[in-house]
Amino acid sequence: MSAPAASRRDRLREMLADLRLPGALEAVDGVLADVDGGAATAGEAIERLLGAQIALRNNRRLETAMRASRLPAVKTLAQFDFAFQPDVKRERIESLHELGFLGRRENVVLLGPPGVGKTHLAISLAIAAAESGRRVYYGTLAGLIESLEHAKAAGQLSRRLRVLTHPALLVVDEIGYLPVSRDGAVLFFQLINARHERASTVLTSNKGFEEWGAVLGDEVMAAALIDRLLHHCHIVNIRGNSYRMKHHQELRRSMQRSEAGDGPGTES
Ligand SMILES: Nc1ncnc2c1ncn2[C@@H]1O[C@H](COP(=O)(O)OP(=O)(O)O)[C@@H](O)[C@H]1O
Ligand SMILES: [Mg+2]
Repeated sequence: MSAPAASRRDRLREMLADLRLPGALEAVDGVLADVDGGAATAGEAIERLLGAQIALRNNRRLETAMRASRLPAVKTLAQFDFAFQPDVKRERIESLHELGFLGRRENVVLLGPPGVGKTHLAISLAIAAAESGRRVYYGTLAGLIESLEHAKAAGQLSRRLRVLTHPALLVVDEIGYLPVSRDGAVLFFQLINARHERASTVLTSNKGFEEWGAVLGDEVMAAALIDRLLHHCHIVNIRGNSYRMKHHQELRRSMQRSEAGDGPGTES
């Protein structure tokens, strides 16, 4: 590198440090080397520099949001295998991940049997929201009710409800697996009521809406709750097979094939 180029590089490094742009600072040497070597145009260099800083900022945002959100795992849209779940329309799920529903304070309800990817998609929506700088929070229905019960016992229910109304996206996972006490159902109703038309809620359930009365132990309250949820709502029905069982099934099929003498076209 010639002397002026080297001093420009040093000046750029100082400027990026001064502006507190560590992502761009880390990328700048490589970008300049590519420009000097003719491998990148000026426009590409600027794009890469800014891109590196934005990527770093987004990662940090995501890390902070992930810590605060209590998300149980990292699941992304890119990891979702649409070929396995032909019922789930890719365009529809991708368009939900563009997050217009958050701005409109609409809800998303993911329905289907165990293992079909409901939690996966609820989390990937939450991660997309966190990446876009929104506050998100995850809880199972049982966990959220428990936290509301504790708050109520401590005389802090309205405060806890306010806290849970704050996130732009709240995931309420696993409605229907565990029975809910009557008091618990009332607290859940209050939570949905508090968020209604203020912020979006993404819910998952292995039970159809007609069974929510039994899950919540009160048909009238369940109807009022569903009424609020469905007021502005995207419903994703997943009827397919369990992804958890996928490997078991593949194993079984390959065993059946070898029993049948490895003949082609035995797939059922
Ligand atoms: N279509 C899919 N593509 C990739 N992974 C999937 C898919 N469906 C489910 N999984 C994975 O299978 C496991 C079970 O899915 P999960 O979302 O927990 O199911 P559910 O909440 O419907 O019971 C998870 O590890 C999830 O990431
Ligand atoms: Mg689940």
